Amino acid sequence: MLSLSSSSLLRPSLHCRASSSDRSLGRKLFCCSMAPATKFHNLSKLEHDSDVLIECRDVYKSFGDKHILKGVSFKIRHGEAVGVIGPSGTGKSTILKIMAGLLAPDKGEVYIRGKKRAGLISDEEISGLRIGLVFQSAALFDSLTVRENVGFLLYESSKMSENQISELVTQTLAAVGLKGVENRLPSELSGGMKKRVALARSLIFDTTKEVIEPEVLLYDEPTAGLDPIASTVVEDLIRSVHMTGEEDALGKPGKIASYLVVTHQHSTIQRAVDRLLFLYEGKIVWQGMTHEFTTSANPIVQQFATGSLDGPIRY
Ligand SMILES: Nc1ncnc2c1ncn2[C@@H]1O[C@H](COP(=O)(O)OP(=O)(O)O)[C@@H](O)[C@H]1O
Ligand SMILES: [Mg+2]
Repeated sequence: MLSLSSSSLLRPSLHCRASSSDRSLGRKLFCCSMAPATKFHNLSKLEHDSDVLIECRDVYKSFGDKHILKGVSFKIRHGEAVGVIGPSGTGKSTILKIMAGLLAPDKGEVYIRGKKRAGLISDEEISGLRIGLVFQSAALFDSLTVRENVGFLLYESSKMSENQISELVTQTLAAVGLKGVENRLPSELSGGMKKRVALARSLIFDTTKEVIEPEVLLYDEPTAGLDPIASTVVEDLIRSVHMTGEEDALGKPGKIASYLVVTHQHSTIQRAVDRLLFLYEGKIVWQGMTHEFTTSANPIVQQFATGSLDGPIRY
């Protein structure tokens, strides 16, 4: 498994070949996901939860005597585009690392498609779900070229030829709006370009393998530090790789079944996600659709939405 510092992408070898019944289940799940979550209210518990890809149940995490997560519970369903918001230092990155299996909770459980994950993610784990994490900093390897950074996992672990990888890297870079930068080093790129290279690295995958299980991408502040136009480019890219039944920027059906974005930026909340989870003082204190965010009567949400100094959140 890759260490946190070595890559902005976590993509463990979880690839498993699915049977035709798995495929039809996958299609069913996808169809279910097209309906708004509220339509499920009258369904039985079993049917209601059949489209849950990741569930955190009563998750606790402390670092020394700092109690960061104090009973976090939420579900990510197939087809969802979810934002995680909350003040700095509340544990947003921590919860992403726990979902990705890089950190183990002190207490509570993470369920992957209904199956409890034991400990940290490992190469042996067959979860039927690939989870990618795009780290807060682009975390590119400084001494490797853009081509080597984007194709890193393919060079390391695939059977693809150098030419095939190189071609795929070029295509994937084009999909994130970058051309002719393959031979550059990260130090020769702007902040926005680095973020897009990191995004390309999270999107590239071995085309010689038939992998059909759904994939979840977790983005940690993908637009932080970007100017408004670069932010829009990244927000639209995040949307474009979402599995919508239509072709993605590479002309293939989108592979990302669901994604989760940690963000502070209003533009990203408005443009890139449909539902929000608000993390505050170790718990999810509010969740709702994006359009409900600015009209919520919850004082914590109101203060965060308006950026007011007055309210329950103290700095
Ligand atoms: N590996 C770690 N060791 C010690 N403290 C940590 C570690 N990771 C995070 N923290 C602390 O946990 C808190 C939450 O961190 P983080 O999840 O990065 O917050 P956020 O992403 O919401 O800003 C912070 O106070 C941070 O310093
Ligand atoms: Mg963070």
